[in-house]
Amino acid sequence: LRTPPQGVPRLHDCRLLFLPSFRRSLSTSPSKCGLFGKSSGGQEPQTLDDVVSLLKHGDCKRVIVMAGAGISTPSGIPDFRSPGSGLYDNLQQYDIPYPEAIFDIHYFHQNPRPFFTLAKELYPGNYLPNSAHYFVRLLHMKGLLQRMYTQNIDGLERLAGVPPDKLVEAHGTFASATCTTCRKSYAGEDLKADIFADHVPKCATCRGVIKPDIVFFGEELPQRFLLFLTDFPLADLLIIMGTSLEVEPFASLAGSVRSSVTRVLINRDAVGPFASPSRRFNDVLELGDVIGGVEKCVYKLGWKAELDELMAAEMKKVH
Ligand code: OAD
Ligand code: ZN
Repeated sequence: LRTPPQGVPRLHDCRLLFLPSFRRSLSTSPSKCGLFGKSSGGQEPQTLDDVVSLLKHGDCKRVIVMAGAGISTPSGIPDFRSPGSGLYDNLQQYDIPYPEAIFDIHYFHQNPRPFFTLAKELYPGNYLPNSAHYFVRLLHMKGLLQRMYTQNIDGLERLAGVPPDKLVEAHGTFASATCTTCRKSYAGEDLKADIFADHVPKCATCRGVIKPDIVFFGEELPQRFLLFLTDFPLADLLIIMGTSLEVEPFASLAGSVRSSVTRVLINRDAVGPFASPSRRFNDVLELGDVIGGVEKCVYKLGWKAELDELMAAEMKKVH
């Protein structure tokens, strides 16, 4: 996990990620989706209405969703980089040398306390999913979801009922944990009491520090992330929500769908390739609040009643 150095073009990174064989096979199977599949054949910019019509008419059946902290801010969890409200602007009390140190594996080995103090605050169970999470569940229920790739560690996708096999938790999860010394595995639940009592959890076998299986800067992503190698060439629509696309290798996934595939960004601001010259003619930007963007989409799809019903039923289960 790393933040790309300023000025390094992300598309270049993405090319490095891709195997030549995948790139070749892509060009042999043109997508039905996106502008190349439109009867006009023209290269006019696409809009949310075009995306809605692709979904409604069954032209897109392998939707990939990429998400970040911005989908959970409406649930009350701060994101990382929003000026003022983001976590990295609010870590003064942790006494760490630089904000990202809280998720840096080398720093953690020296001093795990700041991370565990934060973990207590972010611990799953304190927050509820919102319509952005349930929108993804609805895509799944309609048989349209190829996979959701999330950077979030709040567990709200699982809580909203996105099935584990449809989910890639690219930056890990609190659901499991590993001893940093002997690599013994633990259930996330085993650490909860210690975290809430402000104790650093220690391994029953070797007394090493147990770390939740969250991917820190300097660590490898979970094996499951490699599913992108087969998922992205198959995708026929990419929806990106609530992420700054600042962290690699996740950010480069956005460049890994075929060039004919429509990419929709639902976010407060234009980010990654959507804010650069590598922006594609068939990219769709829905700028503003993520809930507003999702609800607009859901309304245009005619799924509003269904989403409301699903959320009401799920809320009943929680309360
Ligand atoms: P960031 O905080 O970097 O970006 C969040 C994005 O969502 C920004 O572009 C915000 O403008 C946008 N946003 C926030 N709230 C929104 C709202 N209500 N409506 C619309 N847009 C909104 O978060 P990530 O991209 O997820 O790593 O950060 C990536 C990784 O960096 C995280 O996974 C984390 C961090 O270091 C780990 O924890 C390992
Ligand atoms: Zn151990």
